[in-house]
Order: sequence, then structure tokens, then C-alpha cells
Amino acid sequence: MSDTVIRVENLGKKYIIGHQTQERYTALRDVIANGAKGLFKSFRNPKFKPVNYQEEFWALKDVSFEIKQGDRVGIIGRNGAGKSTLLKILSRITEPTQGSIKIKGRVASLLEVGTGFHPELTGRENIYLNGAILGMSRIDIKRKFDEIVAFAEVEKFLDTPVKRYSSGMYVRLAFAVAAHLEPEILIVDEVLAVGDAQFQKKCLGKMEDVSNEGRTVIFVSHQMSAIQSLCTRGILLKSGNLYLDSSSQEAINVYLEQAYTLADDIPLAERKDRGGSGKVRAYSIQILNIEGNEVSSLQSGKDYSFKVGYFNQTNEYLNDVVVSLDIFDDKSNRVLLFRTNFTNSNLNLDNKSGYILCNIENLPLAKGSYRLAIFFSHADAETLDYIEDAVNITVDGGDFFGTGSEGLPSHCKILATTKWSKI
Ligand SMILES: Nc1ncnc2c1ncn2[C@@H]1O[C@H](COP(=O)(O)OP(=O)(O)O)[C@@H](O)[C@H]1O
Ligand SMILES: [Mg+2]
Repeated sequence: MSDTVIRVENLGKKYIIGHQTQERYTALRDVIANGAKGLFKSFRNPKFKPVNYQEEFWALKDVSFEIKQGDRVGIIGRNGAGKSTLLKILSRITEPTQGSIKIKGRVASLLEVGTGFHPELTGRENIYLNGAILGMSRIDIKRKFDEIVAFAEVEKFLDTPVKRYSSGMYVRLAFAVAAHLEPEILIVDEVLAVGDAQFQKKCLGKMEDVSNEGRTVIFVSHQMSAIQSLCTRGILLKSGNLYLDSSSQEAINVYLEQAYTLADDIPLAERKDRGGSGKVRAYSIQILNIEGNEVSSLQSGKDYSFKVGYFNQTNEYLNDVVVSLDIFDDKSNRVLLFRTNFTNSNLNLDNKSGYILCNIENLPLAKGSYRLAIFFSHADAETLDYIEDAVNITVDGGDFFGTGSEGLPSHCKILATTKWSKI
């Protein structure tokens, strides 16, 4: 069919893990992820020696689909589902181990790493380099140049090597280049999450413009609202397999349902869908009421302790550890954060295992279903562990206001005490 721009058949990508062969474009993040895999194994089996460890691992398996000109496709799936691997293959940054891929048209991509930027070259030089890679003439690039610079908001740094850019500036320029150089197919991975909310909005708007021009957009995000507003079609990946190829709305619904069952079905210690270096691993979470008993459903306005069991897998004390419990509502919006650095309560973890307690008074969540993610980072720089959907939380009523009112759970999830008067 002539309007098919991408055809992927039985695509598979195999990695050998625990083995130090590195691909040409292997990302730092990937190296960290590999390290984490070894560490995670060692945590489950103390006799395990990561050094001799070698295993085949299929990051993608038997994935087939077609994308038509002008499609706006959201790729969703949990951490480690294979989303970035798929985008890297579509962008020709990595080769598939199996299967075939046919692409019609010029592809511009904004991936987690390995953008076409050369660190030693300036912003200006990189814009020209990328345009040339995309097959544009110098005159065409020149025509787009000012627009790119204005969009990225990097005027002052145009003649600075991009290696000196902050991560936010880097992503802004990389996005601007990818979106403005008139690619026929625009591929964007989660990187946008790096920018601030306003810039993300601007990028979503730009992607919408690009797709309104009839170009094809493929977009990975954890923000379901972004997928919903931009994409018409949703591809759900699960452990490297294509689980669902449908409307974006249906893919989102199925994804959110799955997130719930995962937290219910697999004990935290066995969950592999984690991020971070793995130096610390959360292995349990319990919610205790004021009497110290574990509870599975909560009441608005009551006091609770969240108790997280962790292993410190380094042989060192880790100082200045940020711990965050992030609460998401049933639409995957992050509605509430309990975070140590808000209250100058960062923790020092000794070199073994232990528990962390987070006490909250007057739970301000309205009736409803929530999911909680656990995040550990070191001095707010290195992510040690990140696990989404670590536990499901049900708030089934309560009396936050002391009046019997539940608030309006269908309208609003966070409750606050207010005093009213007329003056
Ligand atoms: N270069 C690599 N070497 C080994 N394993 C990798 C490499 N890149 C990714 N992986 C693994 O492949 C799986 C899929 O990764 P990825 O495509 O990044 O997932 P996603 O983007 O959906 O989070 C993960 O388990 C990840 O650790
Ligand atoms: Mg990814």
C-alpha cells in the first residue's frame, strides 16, 4: 500500500547481558541499566557472581506493525518494555537481531541519547550538521535556522559547544532541530520529560503542528494525558512483545489496568521493571495505621506510616539519600509527593538493609484508587532505585473534614482544611 511509511515485520532485538561488549551508541543509561540487572540478580541470590554472568535477553520479540503516512502513534509500556529499543531501531541507531524494517521518508528522532549532536561542536554547527544528515541543503537549513534557535531559546549559547549545555538546553535544541528540519517522520522518546512543563507543552504543540502537516509522528511518553491529546493510535508493548495495537484511548485503558495488576500480583522484591543504578533496592512496602497494623484500604483524614524495606547493596554508607513516595491517581496523574528533601529530611543509609518510615497525619487523599511509586536518589543526582506502581492504594471514605463530607472525589483528589468568614 502506497501510504504505508513504516513496515516492521517480526522485529527482534537480543542483548547479551553481563557481558562488556558495547554497541557503538550504547547510552550511559543503558550501561547503568545493565549494571543494575547484575546487581539485582545478586540481591536475589547472594552467592551470585555478576562477573561470570552472561545471559541472552530479548528486549523486543516478534514485533510487527505498519504505520501510515500522517499517523500519530503513541508507544506505551512499563519501564523496560522495549520502547526505547524500538525507537532506536526505527531511527537506525541500532540494528535489529531479527526481522525486517522498511521506512519510506526522512526520519528525525529525539532519543534519550545518541542524538545526532556532536559534543565538541557548537549549537550553530550542530544545527547545520543535523540538517545535512537529514539531506537538507544549506539554504533550506538557513531558512529554518532562526525558527529553531527561537524555539529552543538558546540564542546566547549558539557559539558554545553543546557539551557545555545544561541537560534542559540540550534537549530543547535537540527537539527544535528534530521538529523543524521538516522530517517526514518524527520520532520522540521520553526525553521531553527533562524539560520544564511549559517547554513540554510547547513541544506537544509543535508535534501537533508537524502531524497536522501530514507528517508521521511516533511518540513515547509515560504521561497518558500527552499521549491522549497527541496520538490517535496506541501501541502497547509488554516485556518486548506487542501486546496491543489500537486506538490511543484503548491502549491507555489497558495499560492502566495492567499497572494495577502488576502491583497486586508480583511481590516488590521480585519486580524487575525498575530504574536506577540498583545500589539501593526497595524490597517491601507496607502501610500501617496508628495502631501499627498493616492496612490495605485507607481513610481520608487518618494518620498512617508508610514503611519501606530496602537493601543498600554497596559496601558503603550512603549519605544524603532522597526518598520519595509518589502518589498517582487512577488517570496516572501524580497528585501527591512525600519527599525527604522537602523537609530537609534526607537520610543516611548504612551499608546493609533497613526500613524507612514516612509518617503522615490527616491523609489528604479523597476517596479513590491510587498507585504509589518509590524513588531513591543519591544527593538528588544519581537515581538509585525507581519503581512505579509499587503498591495500589484504595482510599474508601473517611472523615477528613470532621463533617462527614467526602469532598468531591470525582472532581478533586486532594483535600485541605479551610476556614471561612465574611468580612
Ligand atoms: N544496550 C543494552 N544492553 C543490554 N540490555 C539493554 C540495552 N538497552 C536496553 N536493554 C534492556 O532492554 C530492555 C528494554 O529496554 P528499553 O527499550 O530501554 O525499555 P523502555 O524504553 O521501554 O523502558 C530493558 O530490560 C533494558 O534493560
Ligand atoms: Mg525508554
